[in-house]
Amino acid sequence: MADRPSFYITTPIYYVNAAPHLGTAYCTILCDVMARYKRSMGYDVKFLTGLDEHGEKVQQAAEAHDMTPQAWCDSLAPAFTDIWKTLEISNDDFIRTTQERQVKAVQHLWERMREAGYIYKGSYDGWYCVPEETYFTDTQVKKADEERHTEGQHLCPDCGRSLERVQEESWFFKLSAFQDRLLALYDEHPDFVMPDFRMNEVRTFVEGGLRDISVSRTSFDWGIPVPFDDKHVTYVWFDALLNYATAVGFGNPDMADEFAFRWPAQFNVVGKDIIRFHCVIWPAMLMAIGEAVPEHVFAHGFLMVHDDETGKNVKMSKSLGNVIAPQDVVDMLGVEGYRYYFMTDCVPGEDGGISFGRMEQVYNADLANSWGNLVSRSLNMSAKYFDGCTPTLPEGWADAESPLREIAQGIVGRYAAHMDKVEYVAAKDVVMELVHAANHYIEDSMPWAVAKDPERAGELAQIMANLLEAIRICAHLLEPFMPETSAEVLRRMSLADEADTQDLEACCAWGGLAGGVPVTKGDALFPRLQSQK
Ligand code: MSP
Repeated sequence: MADRPSFYITTPIYYVNAAPHLGTAYCTILCDVMARYKRSMGYDVKFLTGLDEHGEKVQQAAEAHDMTPQAWCDSLAPAFTDIWKTLEISNDDFIRTTQERQVKAVQHLWERMREAGYIYKGSYDGWYCVPEETYFTDTQVKKADEERHTEGQHLCPDCGRSLERVQEESWFFKLSAFQDRLLALYDEHPDFVMPDFRMNEVRTFVEGGLRDISVSRTSFDWGIPVPFDDKHVTYVWFDALLNYATAVGFGNPDMADEFAFRWPAQFNVVGKDIIRFHCVIWPAMLMAIGEAVPEHVFAHGFLMVHDDETGKNVKMSKSLGNVIAPQDVVDMLGVEGYRYYFMTDCVPGEDGGISFGRMEQVYNADLANSWGNLVSRSLNMSAKYFDGCTPTLPEGWADAESPLREIAQGIVGRYAAHMDKVEYVAAKDVVMELVHAANHYIEDSMPWAVAKDPERAGELAQIMANLLEAIRICAHLLEPFMPETSAEVLRRMSLADEADTQDLEACCAWGGLAGGVPVTKGDALFPRLQSQK
């Protein structure tokens, strides 16, 4: 296998019950930023996303459209792959749970579970929430109904929608046997769940005791058959969670080397609503069959719609009529602006309040007025003063003191310390410090005045070299957030070969600029938005 270390990152696999929305796009971009960053740090990255196609929820969506579940999934899959392409998602693989590789892996899981003695047959009698594909006990439902005053109606304790009563023969997974091992995992690897406060939530839940869970269904058939009991299909979560292992060759003898190289994953990124599946059930499943657990499960918050008038954040929902489609944001901000806004204005671990007003503010302030303006002013000046080129670099220019050189020293380390912890807002601040300093530097050094005096030609070349060098470094550091803009900036400076670096540290060392090469002025990267209001 490769000589570079593996970095394996995954998004949740999305239910194929509706088209992708802002929330699913948010999670996918969050992973994409990490994947791009890690590639630039020299890792051999595998970035996986895909679709969760089995289960009652998808079956019902198909029925509502008068289609077979498979035809329904096939018809909706392009809506996901298309939007990922639009949003510049650089996934290396796309898994669908109806693929042969997943069917084989899940059946292998059943065999391994049986050999290990962690499954048994019983019967399930309790509640089931189809939209959440989750089981609830009588006690859980009763408590939630009382709190909500549902007056005899039984509603899902999590999402508040109606529940199904399910009574059926079922295979169970002995989750209860893993309480101590899970608590030991959390103690030994306190960053197994990120951010910290989510770890506490998970620990408290497990300390409260674990119940065995039903992992097969007999009352419908849209699932992977249990290999040794053909009346049963696999519970959708038991199937879905395994996708992360399937994609790197779990249970496939032809992919043994790949599995050894890739497993365990470094990051399973998920929304906060599905952490129990990922931080409790999933590691227990892996422990049961003797496989390593992922290094980190990172749980992001929910995107909420910020009401600019009341100042409150509200859930995005069809009934409130405040759902924003990814395309609406792309139309307004462009893809690069879209990615930048969500990744740098919403703290990944927390719920983010989004609004069109705020989008416009961030776009204009950071992209149009700061980054875009810096690039166009500097490239225009370089082209004007140096005959369409970057300046011929003065001897020893990279050793000359300058406020920009000072900020650029050690910038990759400061940036990486935040990127590694998914602290994108802080990482962006590190880069924007250099962008702002460069804009100030233009005002302070007044290249237009220096250019008037032929005796100061050396000084002018030094000023422009400092500016262009700061831009080059910022372009590299902003690449995970805005890949196309960074590639374009480097192209305009005749540095296209530097894009897609695998050694960010070396690449961002002060002094890498190419002197005397053509610069392209080009259109404004981020034309200013004029408020609709
Ligand atoms: N199919 C399961 C995941 C299985 S992973 C082995 C699932 N699918 S989902 O399509 O319902 O949700 C996928 C992800 O989208 C979840 O991580 C969820 O948190 C995220 N989001 C859904 N709405 C969201 C927001 N409004 N904001 C941010 N993310 C949200 O669950």
